[in-house]
Amino acid sequence: MKAKTVQLPDGTTVPAIGQGTWYMGERNSEFRSEVNALKQGLDAGMSLIDTAEIYADGGAERVVGEAIAGRRDDVFLVSKVYPHNAGGAKAIAACEQSLKRLQTDCIDLYLLHWRGSIALHDTVAAMEKLQQSGKIRRWGVSNLDTDDMQALWKIPGGEHCMTNQVLYHAAARGIEFDLLPWSEEHGVPVMAYCPLAQAGKLRHDVLTAPVMQNIAKERGVTSSQIALAWVIRSGHVIAIPKAVQPQHIKDNAAAMMLSLSDEEIAQIDAAFPAPNHKMPLDMV
Ligand SMILES: NC(=O)c1ccc[n+]([C@@H]2O[C@H](COP(=O)([O-])OP(=O)(O)OC[C@H]3O[C@@H](n4cnc5c(N)ncnc54)[C@H](OP(=O)(O)O)[C@@H]3O)[C@@H](O)[C@H]2O)c1
Repeated sequence: MKAKTVQLPDGTTVPAIGQGTWYMGERNSEFRSEVNALKQGLDAGMSLIDTAEIYADGGAERVVGEAIAGRRDDVFLVSKVYPHNAGGAKAIAACEQSLKRLQTDCIDLYLLHWRGSIALHDTVAAMEKLQQSGKIRRWGVSNLDTDDMQALWKIPGGEHCMTNQVLYHAAARGIEFDLLPWSEEHGVPVMAYCPLAQAGKLRHDVLTAPVMQNIAKERGVTSSQIALAWVIRSGHVIAIPKAVQPQHIKDNAAAMMLSLSDEEIAQIDAAFPAPNHKMPLDMV
């Protein structure tokens, strides 16, 4: 079985499952195990790593920097800028600080973390400048709803956006009403955060519902792997589960090989129906 991939608008192929890093870098005592976790994930084919300047106040980027040292070319590196830094000279300075912590000279994909008070056109201008100077290869956004994406597309250069990273799992399907169809229509892949509902903390039934457990049992996998296979089922969505435990990392990488049948997808639809009306964008 081939591992699933997703194509970005510029033709770059990334694995359909990458690695999140929220809560990494918070404690020195965990540093080594977090570095090793990311390395294990890279070895297993989860070459996309998602981080942000906000995570542990730069601590997560330091963990990533250590994990990718000596193998930068094997990694597709995603980081995010604070909204209050996402314009003008502040954006350049924030990116340079991230680069230092990441021990690299270029970020593959740099995202606006969420929409703040800086005008979107100032963010686009800063992102384009960072790209031209070679500090980032591409840029995108996070936590933008359909109206914000439409506004972005009206700005010259706004359509260079490579992804929108939003919360998505089987019990949080609000984006399927309008944002996901808009993204598919405009060829912008969605990057799904909290694809495991934070190990069930946000919604335990994503992992414990009989439908997830039954499908998992029939296939001899875990319900987390079914949850991930469900998130990436369309080929248009990248999932970025965060994992430190070696078995979790192994399972997440293996989920890239899982294809759910139409029947299994219908069973999950019946237990977790998609909304038939506009929902506010889910965020954590
Ligand atoms: N753009 C944004 O605003 C935003 C917001 C939230 C998150 N994110 C990004 O998205 C990433 C993922 O979201 P998240 O970390 O909040 O939640 P998540 O990936 O849904 O869940 C992480 C939790 O799931 C556990 N886990 C991982 N793989 C597992 C498996 N195979 N079986 C059972 N449990 C498993 C992890 O445990 P262990 O660590 O103990 O292995 C951890 O407790 C973040 O790390 C971050 O990079 C972005």
